[in-house]
Amino acid sequence: MLRLGKAKLAVAFVGLGLFWGCRTSSSGHDSGKTARQAQVPVEKPQQLDSIALVALGDSLTTARQQVLLQRLLQASEKEGWGGAVRYCYHAAETLAFYQGGNLSLQRIAERYRNPKDQLKDSLDRAAFAYFQETGAKTPIVWQTNSAWYYYRPIYIIMPTCLKCHGSKEDLDALALTEIRKHYPGDKATGFQMGDLRGLWKMAYSVPSPE
Ligand code: HEC
Repeated sequence: MLRLGKAKLAVAFVGLGLFWGCRTSSSGHDSGKTARQAQVPVEKPQQLDSIALVALGDSLTTARQQVLLQRLLQASEKEGWGGAVRYCYHAAETLAFYQGGNLSLQRIAERYRNPKDQLKDSLDRAAFAYFQETGAKTPIVWQTNSAWYYYRPIYIIMPTCLKCHGSKEDLDALALTEIRKHYPGDKATGFQMGDLRGLWKMAYSVPSPE
């Protein structure tokens, strides 16, 4: 289905306790160890499969997406679309990025605004191409030797997105001024309703056995 060289959709067995424990570094799960140092528990291993990964990815990304949109709209009500861009410039990274233990989360895009959101490798590019070609709404999960990857598409689903990502006639003038100021190399305009705008990417690195 997906031509991805070495990467393959698969099922692996690792400790789900460790997996969830990575969500917050202060969770009592790994008592005595930091999540980074924790090993896959050998006793009573539970199954981590693509379903568990999708459930975790969905919950983390849905929550972040909602907060981002809500705060962006609040900022626009108070300070207009230019103010909303300034808000995103200062806050989007903190809200969209997560790095803890073996787990990392971020947004990526082919035509990116924040240079940190560039597609990084062939897996990112393959995932992006997959959603671009199929328009699939549901996330995909891949496993390589060292990690699990979860990709969830982000489409332009409301006209509001076009105030800051649309083409000339849809862009808000004040938003555009702020975008040019804060993102000199911006590539993230010219989109239309329904376009694939980017992806959520979650990576869970699997500690090597032994
Ligand atoms: C007020 C302007 C504004 C609106 C409205 C807006 N965005 Fe953005 N968007 C931004 C800015 C600014 C960034 C860069 C944030 C950063 O610095 O990380 C961004 C980044 C993104 C990214 C991350 C990839 C990248 O290019 O860096 C995605 C995906 C995205 N927006 C999707 C959307 C979607 C979908 C909507 C509508 C639901 C939307 N945006 C509405 C301003 C906006």
